[in-house]
Amino acid sequence: MAKYLITGGAGFIGSNLTERLLNEDDASITIVDDLSMGDTANIPASERVTFIQHSITDHEFMSQLVRDKQFDYYVLLAAIASVADSVERPYATHQVNQEANLNIIETLRSEKLPFKKLFFSSSAAVYGQLPEMPKREDQAVQPLTQYAVDKYATERAIINYGRLYDMPMVCARFFNVYGPKQNPASPYSGVLSIMLDCLTRGKPFSFFGDGSQTRDFVFVGDVVNAIYGLLHTAEARNDVYNIANGRQTSLMSVAKQLETLTGKKLQASFKPARSGDIHDSYADASKINALGFMTHTPLEKGLAKYVASV
Ligand code: UD1
Repeated sequence: MAKYLITGGAGFIGSNLTERLLNEDDASITIVDDLSMGDTANIPASERVTFIQHSITDHEFMSQLVRDKQFDYYVLLAAIASVADSVERPYATHQVNQEANLNIIETLRSEKLPFKKLFFSSSAAVYGQLPEMPKREDQAVQPLTQYAVDKYATERAIINYGRLYDMPMVCARFFNVYGPKQNPASPYSGVLSIMLDCLTRGKPFSFFGDGSQTRDFVFVGDVVNAIYGLLHTAEARNDVYNIANGRQTSLMSVAKQLETLTGKKLQASFKPARSGDIHDSYADASKINALGFMTHTPLEKGLAKYVASV
C-alpha cells in the first residue's frame, strides 16, 4: 500500500486529488486539514482515507504524525490560497504557507526519514508583473505580496533540501485552477467560483478593475493528473514546473462564456483593482508537457463540466 499525506486534502484541489488517488488500488491517504476553506463533504468516503482535522501550523503535531506514519508521498497543498487574503494577513500567511511546510521537510531531513517523493504547490504569483509572456520557469521572478514571497521561498527551500540532502522533491507553480468543489464562500475565493455562484444565485458580481486582466485558467482534473505524474516520474526531481493550460483569457471573456453556459446574465459592477493584484498571467507549459502526462482540457469543456457540477 502506498501511503500518501495530503495537507489541505479537504480543500478544492486536495479533495479532487484524493478522488484521483482512490482510482489507484494501492493508495491509502491521510488528510490533514483545518477546514478553514475545506469541507469534509468534499472527501470521498472510503476506508482508505483517514481525515484529521488539525492545523499544519502545529509543528509538534505534524512532526509526530510524519514520524509515526512515515508516508511514502507528501503532497503539501494546505495554504492561505488567496493573494488578496495574504495582503490582509501577511504574518498568518507566512506561518501557514512557509513555516509549516519547512517544519515538515526539516522533520524529514533531521530524522532521516525515507520517502518516495514530496510535492509542493507553489504559484504563478511568483512571476509578478514582469512583462515577459508566456511565463517560463527559468525567467526572473518578482514576488509582490507576502503570498508570492512565501510560495517562492518555500519552493526554493524544498528544491535546496532536495539538492543538498539528496531528498526526492518536486514543486509546481499553479496558474488559476478552477472546477468542481471549488469553494465560492469567501470573498477571497477563486474568481470563477465566485462568478459562477453569482450567476446561479442571481447575486451581484464585482470586477476588481475593468475585467481586462488575464489569467491562465487550468481545469482541476488536469492539475491532479499533473500532480500524480510529478509524484511518479523519477526525472521530475528537485525542480519546478508550471501547471497551466497555456492560454491567456481575460476575466471579461470568461464571464461571457459562463453567461452562455448558464443562460444567465451577470449583474456586474466595477470596483478599483485589488492591492497586490497582477494584471496579466499566462504560462509556457512546455517543460511539464515534455514529461508526457500533462493533459489540457480546453477552457470551454472545463467550464461546461464545472457548470454541470454545481
Ligand atoms: C489565484 C489563486 C492562487 C494562485 C494564483 C496563481 C485563488 C483564490 N487564488 O490567484 O492560489 O496561486 O491564482 O496564478 O484561487 N476578481 C474579481 N472579482 C472577484 C474576485 C476576483 O474581479 O470577486 C479578480 C481579481 O482581482 C484578479 C482575478 O479576478 O484580478 C483573479 O483573482 P483570484 O481568483 O483571486 O486569483 P489570483 O489572485 O490570480
